[in-house]
This record gives sequence, C-alpha cells and structure tokens, in this order.
Amino acid sequence: MEIIRTIAEMQNISSELILQGKKIVCVPTMGYFHQGHISLMKKAREYGDIVITTLFVNPTQFAPNEDFNSYPRDYDGDSKMAQAAGVDYLFFPTVSEMYPTGYDCKIHIGGITSKFEGATRPTHFDGVATVVTKLFNITKPHFAIFGQKDYQQVLVIRKLVQDLNLDVKIIVAPILRENDGLAMSSRNTYLMADLRKKAGILFQALEDARMSIENGERKRKMINAILHKNLRSVPEIKIDYACSVDADTLEEPDEFRPGDRIVLLLAVFLGKTRLIDNATITIPSIFPSLGKDFKEGI
Ligand code: PAF
Repeated sequence: MEIIRTIAEMQNISSELILQGKKIVCVPTMGYFHQGHISLMKKAREYGDIVITTLFVNPTQFAPNEDFNSYPRDYDGDSKMAQAAGVDYLFFPTVSEMYPTGYDCKIHIGGITSKFEGATRPTHFDGVATVVTKLFNITKPHFAIFGQKDYQQVLVIRKLVQDLNLDVKIIVAPILRENDGLAMSSRNTYLMADLRKKAGILFQALEDARMSIENGERKRKMINAILHKNLRSVPEIKIDYACSVDADTLEEPDEFRPGDRIVLLLAVFLGKTRLIDNATITIPSIFPSLGKDFKEGI
C-alpha cells in the first residue's frame, strides 16, 4: 500500500491507472478505523481493481461547537489496518493541502438537508458535499463506497452525484454492529463504560419498531412512539430525533402503505456522546394474521 500526501500525486496516479484500464474504487473516511471501515474496504475490492481509501478529518463538516479537535485519530494504526485490508493507496492529505489559503468554495444541497441531521447540524452537509466532491475529483473513482450508518449522508451524496452529473456509482454497505447491536462508529470510543453498557437500547428501539411493523402497525406516530419509549427507558439519553420516514424523500406521511420503503432514523445524546443509527424496512404487503407462509395470489 502506498500513502499519498498530495493532491497532484494522487491525481497523477489515478489518471495513469485509468489509462491502464483499471477500475478505481474509493472509500472516503475520516479514519480511526474499526471493522465497519474495514468491511467497506473489503467490499470495495468486489467492484474494481484498485482500492483507494481517503483518510481526512474534514474540518468543514464540523460546526465550531463540535468535536473536530477531539475527533479520535490514529494514523499509524489506520495505515496498518488499511494495508491489512488490502487497500492499494491511502490518500492522507493535510488540512492545508485540501483547503489552502484563499480557498473559498462550497457545495450546498437543498431539500433533504433541511431535516434531521441537517436541522441539528446546519452546516454539516455543505462540508460533506464539498469534501466528497473534492475527493472524487482527486481520486477519480468509478465507484465509491459509503456506510448505511450515515443514512442521510448517503441520500445527500446520491443527490450530489445526480444533480452535478458526477461520473461515479455510489455503493452502500450495511451497518456493522457490536454484540449488543450498537452500530460501529469511531465516536463510540467517547462512551465511558457505564454508558457504553446502555447503548444497546438504540438497536433495541429499532428492533421493537420493526416488530410492530411486522405485526401490522402502519401509523407513523405509533411507530415513533415505540422508538421514543425505548430510548426514554435510559435516563442518560436525550433524544435529538427518533422517527420513521420515507426512505427516499424523508417525508413523513401519517400512515405507511404496503410496499413503502421506510427508514427508522435515530439520533441521541448518550451523556455527551451523539450517536446515530437507522434501519430500513419495506412495509409488508400481507396482513399479519394470514401468517408468514401465506403468499399473495395463491
Ligand atoms: O462519513 C464520513 O466519514 C465523512 O462524512 C466523509 C464521507 C468521509 C466525508 O468527510
């Protein structure tokens, strides 16, 4: 694995690889790798010949009151893990390489960025869209892999690619979870042992809501109430949002219909640590009392 520190060198390498007919797959990350990141790097291998992982803690997606300075970093550990995962190039620029003096540009995506993460973190998605565009222009990938854990981010990046006609295919990889169901995240390291023990409630909330849907619940407010009830059972949790929404538009109809693809979205503070999680579900088209083996039309 080669570690590349400058934009010019990364662009030259990618151009050369494309001339050789290689398919490039990019895995954008902010580092402090865990098995979730490694699963993205391994998935990348399924889509192309060359895997480029980018490692950049992007300051423009953090608000001044957020954790840019304390965001966990372990560059030596990360490069060892990336190498072991079979990554070909680790693009690891400095902040001044990405945002030199005089840099003055940002990409804003409307609509889906106004709710949920975007409501709580109003400048976040501008920072994400801008850095991801830069990373695509630098690494020139045919495919890019993102984790489903940042669900709204995936929608934003798909919209970015669609609206700006970026020539890259976005692949979404499933959430990897710890034994108690907690979604893997670099920020989990902020959790002290006593709070870490309580973090499994997020997954429990998603599972209970999923069960209620399997048992026939279709009303959005009732599904949301199940999420809230679970989360409120841990006094140290402050709910930012916990809701069921259309998986593509993030709209919130009163009732979901058979065949609707929905996503349950959670964001909470557990102590001082902000955790997000989600689960996608297709509303079943059969009435539950007909039983699991019932097939429509037979
Ligand atoms: O998901 C992340 O780690 C970041 O938001 C990303 C996509 C690497 C952009 O900085």
